[in-house]
Amino acid sequence: MKAAVLNQIPGHLEIEEVSIGSPGPREVLVKTVAAGLCHSDLHFMEGTYTTDVPAVLGHESAGIVEAVGSMVSYVEPGDHVITCLAAFCGHCEDCLGGHPARCQRKGADLVRGPGEPSRLTRGDEDLGQFLHCSSFAEQLLVHEHALVKIRKDMPLEKAALIGCGVTTGLGAVFRTARVDPGSDVVVIGCGGIGLSAIQGARIAGANKIIAVDMNSPKLELAQSLGATHVINASDTDPVKAVREMTDGGARFTFEAIGLKQTAEQAFQMLRVGGQATVIGLIPLGTNVEVHGVELVNEKILTGSNMGSTQFRTDMPRYVDMYIDGRLKLDEMISGTIRLEDINEGFAAMKTGTVARQIITF
Ligand SMILES: NC(=O)c1ccc[n+]([C@@H]2O[C@H](COP(=O)([O-])OP(=O)(O)OC[C@H]3O[C@@H](n4cnc5c(N)ncnc54)[C@H](O)[C@@H]3O)[C@@H](O)[C@H]2O)c1
Ligand SMILES: [Zn+2]
Ligand SMILES: [Zn+2]
Repeated sequence: MKAAVLNQIPGHLEIEEVSIGSPGPREVLVKTVAAGLCHSDLHFMEGTYTTDVPAVLGHESAGIVEAVGSMVSYVEPGDHVITCLAAFCGHCEDCLGGHPARCQRKGADLVRGPGEPSRLTRGDEDLGQFLHCSSFAEQLLVHEHALVKIRKDMPLEKAALIGCGVTTGLGAVFRTARVDPGSDVVVIGCGGIGLSAIQGARIAGANKIIAVDMNSPKLELAQSLGATHVINASDTDPVKAVREMTDGGARFTFEAIGLKQTAEQAFQMLRVGGQATVIGLIPLGTNVEVHGVELVNEKILTGSNMGSTQFRTDMPRYVDMYIDGRLKLDEMISGTIRLEDINEGFAAMKTGTVARQIITF
């Protein structure tokens, strides 16, 4: 099958012919229908984060089950599924405590053992499986705990967005921060993640929803998805502007870029007792600083991993929200591209001008 392989870090993706195994007892083989480009893939290509290479990248996808292992009863061939990197072991303290996205056992329990053949290979060489998915490929072979079954009337190219970006943004609002109706919300960064957080704030009934970005068309898109106010950070100090708009600071802020500066801005924008949630992946080794005295004002700085998702529950709900019109996904897709155009897609992402780009297979 064709797949986009990262051979070195930093590096571009190369479209290559690779092999995929057949399902082990708890594994599922999926025909990939669509895969989204997320900035997290780009962080690994650029080397702000690292992974074992060579590896097939991609982690936001939806498809149709082709075959299942002998112990799998949750799905069967023909089922429609969304994959998710927040795979869960199902028996650790975090999973059983209601926080499967925190599961630390997935690296041990959900991958193949050292003596077993790799799920993905190129000739005699093993290929890494990126974030339990490797979505930039015509097929996926994943542990059954890395996917969720969805209704068949959900278009799969829209469903793919829910595999990472949408769930992360909505979950950061619903599950990590638990935004309550009537509170003021700021979202810094209007890519796929930030636009989803804006939609989450709208669905949660927030009062002011202030979108911050440096790209005007992105701010217009943010308004169409629920932002009530916008700030262009290329010509306006966003901290000062938010303080003025909210009478001293917002109750909830979300950073959806992955920069030290914007994470610090998210904290500086808070009112007394407010909470800043950093969703963006800040480069490894970078510290984020706050004024110590502000902590006495009971301000909280935290992060969100995949929107603290319980994805087997959350994703089917988000599918329902799309079908009934509350969650807008068509508007978030800037373009549909071919696997062969993936590097151009990431180059466009770097400019900050696109929302989500989807590869269809
Ligand atoms: N925590 C998680 O589980 C998780 C999950 C998915 C993605 N992420 C991370 O979330 C971040 C956002 O991902 P994305 O795919 O939406 O990215 P993206 O590149 O599509 O969007 C980023 C947006 O930020 C804007 N921007 C850049 N610099 C800015 C600045 N200084 N001020 C204001 N706006 C600025 C850009 O114009 C762009 O609209 C990335 O760091 C990604 O790795 C985290
Ligand atoms: Zn992602
Ligand atoms: Zn677990």
